Amino acid sequence: MERLVGVAAVAAVAFFLTLSSSAAESDNNFTGDSNIRRRPPVKGLCADVIERYNHPCSEHKVQTKDGYVLGLHRVSSRSGILRKKNGPPVLLLHGLFMAGDAWFLDSMDQSLGYILADHGFDVWAGSVRGTFWSHGHTCLSEKDKDFWNWSWEELALYDLTAMLHYVHVVSHSKVFVVGHSQGTIMSLAAFTEPDIVKMVQGAALLCPITYLEHVSAPLVLRLVSMHLDQLVLALGIHQLNFRSDIGVQLLDSICDGHVDCNDLLASITGTNCCMNISRVDFYLEYEPHPSSSKNLNHLFQMIRKGTFAKYDYGKWKNLKRYGTFEPPKFDLSRIPKSLPLWMGYGGNDALADPIDFQHTLKELKSKPELLFLENYGHVDFLSSVTANRDVYDSMIRFFRSSGRISSS
Ligand SMILES: *[C@@H]1O[C@H](CO)[C@@H](O)[C@H](O)[C@H]1NC(C)=O
Ligand SMILES: *[C@@H]1O[C@H](CO)[C@@H](O)[C@H](O)[C@H]1NC(C)=O
Ligand SMILES: *[C@@H]1O[C@H](CO)[C@@H](O)[C@H](O)[C@H]1NC(C)=O
Repeated sequence: MERLVGVAAVAAVAFFLTLSSSAAESDNNFTGDSNIRRRPPVKGLCADVIERYNHPCSEHKVQTKDGYVLGLHRVSSRSGILRKKNGPPVLLLHGLFMAGDAWFLDSMDQSLGYILADHGFDVWAGSVRGTFWSHGHTCLSEKDKDFWNWSWEELALYDLTAMLHYVHVVSHSKVFVVGHSQGTIMSLAAFTEPDIVKMVQGAALLCPITYLEHVSAPLVLRLVSMHLDQLVLALGIHQLNFRSDIGVQLLDSICDGHVDCNDLLASITGTNCCMNISRVDFYLEYEPHPSSSKNLNHLFQMIRKGTFAKYDYGKWKNLKRYGTFEPPKFDLSRIPKSLPLWMGYGGNDALADPIDFQHTLKELKSKPELLFLENYGHVDFLSSVTANRDVYDSMIRFFRSSGRISSS
């Protein structure tokens, strides 16, 4: 059997396909793309989403070394205005085809962003380049193909770094990091760099991914064997945007006859036990966000090759760029043993496969605190209606025990 890798990317495709097909059912008048095309309202993430439960929220802009302008959203508890001193800062890093809104789409006692804020943390929601809240650049526009010339490697080494540095400076404190899916790839790659990890107080990783060798999801296998990533690049499509005409057609052709799109979410992410399907329409007002074709290509390279390494440009270009035929690997043993790590993983997660997860653990010098939930799939860690007591309580206890944190 071929080696496969599912990635957060594919997971997200499936996730939103499933969302749109469920939405279709509830509508009973689905034109094929009306839901997926809906644009987010444009007042801003604070005004449109986060402030609906009266949490104080402020918008910040951060510039990366390579010129991207990113949106960063700071949220505190409803009583935050009265608080003299902010609690410890936490930077939230979303998954593929998502953005900072992902942490605030459920109710106040179900969404991690609100929960952390109400526990007294100084919450910062990051949105990576290309997403709806982070589409600026000093000299490029989204219409330029160069704007989309990046993968998660740049998200780790430039976006994460710029956001972390900003929060570190503003809060005068080391920062806790929370990642989900692609956010964990970014985190674990970035933490191998001493200059980055020195700003981190500790990290909580949901569905941690580095190696993608053992993904078993049937649809992922299909997309990888279709060479969807290379196909898209060969067609000159640099931006993956499922709200565009091309994106909608792409989704159609993936579903066409081969996959039951109603089971799509399960066939890619694994069975999610505990999501609230009637929230789907609301999720679709904000998700999915664009990403780059090169990012999908990099993720599929990891599936094909079984490595956790920089982008593979091909032998000769690699030689020119890296000085070696193969791209350099990210060495997980470079993550300091002293860095407190907490990881939550699920028995039904078809992307963060248990064998690949054990591979990650073996290469780390430290022993992370682990939370295993047998019935959880890839999306449950973000959207389960019981994630609060199943997952987030344990995460908050971990932060309290590994930071200089008084209780709130
Ligand atoms: C279905 O959508 C079409 C086109 O938007 C509209 O004309 C029609 O009235 C809708 N039908 C129902 C039952 O909502
Ligand atoms: C993307 O950038 C790299 C250098 O970082 C360059 O070698 C490559 O040609 C660029 N690709 C495209 C499609 O512009
Ligand atoms: C599921 O979502 C619907 C619609 O937002 C909401 O009315 C309901 O309370 C939610 N159920 C749970 C268990 O959260």
